[in-house]
Amino acid sequence: MQSWTTDSWRKLPIKQQPDYADTGQLQGVEKTLSTLPPLASPDESRALKRELADVAAGKAFLLQGGDCAESFAEFSEDNLRRFFRVLLQMTMALMYGASCPVVKVGRIAGQFAKPRSDNTEKKGELELPAYRGDMVNAMDFDAGSRAPDPERLLRAYYQGAATINYLRTLARGGYASLTRINRWNMEFAQSSAQGKRFEDLIARINECVGFIRACRLPIDEVEQFSEASFFTSHEALLLNYEAALTRLDKTDGKYYAASAHMLWIGDRTRDPGEAHVEFMRGIANPIAVKVGPSMTADGLLKLIDLLNPDNEAGRLTLISRMGATRVGELLPPLIRAVKNSGKTVVWSCDPMHGNTIKSPNGYKTRKFTDILAEVRQFFAIHKAEGTFAGGVHFEMTGQDVTECLGGAQAISELNLSDRYHTHCDPRLNASQALELAFLIAETLKKQKG
Ligand code: PEP
Ligand code: CO
Repeated sequence: MQSWTTDSWRKLPIKQQPDYADTGQLQGVEKTLSTLPPLASPDESRALKRELADVAAGKAFLLQGGDCAESFAEFSEDNLRRFFRVLLQMTMALMYGASCPVVKVGRIAGQFAKPRSDNTEKKGELELPAYRGDMVNAMDFDAGSRAPDPERLLRAYYQGAATINYLRTLARGGYASLTRINRWNMEFAQSSAQGKRFEDLIARINECVGFIRACRLPIDEVEQFSEASFFTSHEALLLNYEAALTRLDKTDGKYYAASAHMLWIGDRTRDPGEAHVEFMRGIANPIAVKVGPSMTADGLLKLIDLLNPDNEAGRLTLISRMGATRVGELLPPLIRAVKNSGKTVVWSCDPMHGNTIKSPNGYKTRKFTDILAEVRQFFAIHKAEGTFAGGVHFEMTGQDVTECLGGAQAISELNLSDRYHTHCDPRLNASQALELAFLIAETLKKQKG
């Protein structure tokens, strides 16, 4: 194997990249990015790796979630705070259900670039480059908007920086305190039909909080109760951006992507002979790979050897996204192959990307029941195989959008047009995301018996 450098991927075939008209301008942007401060530090990435090592050992649970695609238009204080709030509320439910710490990772502060099924989009006679996310081009259907613009890489970087700054202040301040999150969950139980169903479960969590208080533990002062550790992640799709933000850490002599704590390889760019796998094998961050229906057991073992040759715990997360109808047939052989090889991985479930459908009125959507069905099967399969179902990966938002069907709010096909704002795939809204977390918590509690 050739030796790795931050540029060794450039000699290999690469998929899903924009066609920039002015490569000189692109190089100028890369040069600027390479001088800018990191968004995530090696110390933080190592801390996440340790937390994920606990997940691999069955001692913690991973919650990863956020937009399918972040956008420049939807960037606001309000949206970030709402997202963080619902993520914390979900964490509380899962902590209770899984009886273990929950590792919180956002699809945020860099999730701006999307793989697409087609390179172009046609409307009437006009054929233009596909929209590939705000980091590449704009969604409007005209030639100027769709032309990939390297300056967008910088804009994504600065939005990522402001995002991570704000989320850090929320995580470190009183916003993330246990008592406050518990209060939000009680409000959810009391004020909505979908919350009512979980009143008992939330009352039990409330009793635990009361018990801690009764022990005179200073619940709002102890770090574990008043602060949240929170990490960022995104799909490492645009390697020009990722490579320019990769830095050598002198403390351990390894290279770290500084664009996020954790990066993942998408289902369409995980060919072992191609650029994305080459780039990702050389960075020391915790990384993940999406594992879709076309993955074979041999292919998976080969990828694991390339991406985690030292079998380091917490380094590699496998995010399965098979779809509710196929997970029962496709996932068990992969789990067995990994188990028999003695490799240490985190298994997580993305119940979104295998369950995307088109509604009769033309919206890309997902059914809440399919999402729940895939997660439940994921847990049941791991239980049957004697392996640990380590986490979940959701496309979600803190806003009250109408993009996924169902849930206790009963969003129907007719409602989809009300507030369909996503820049790519349909997301769970705040209420659906929270409801899902509580349903998973119930499932986990029952499984433990
Ligand atoms: C995504 O996570 O938005 C995505 C495109 O997923 P996948 O690579 O699994 O299709
Ligand atoms: Co998506």
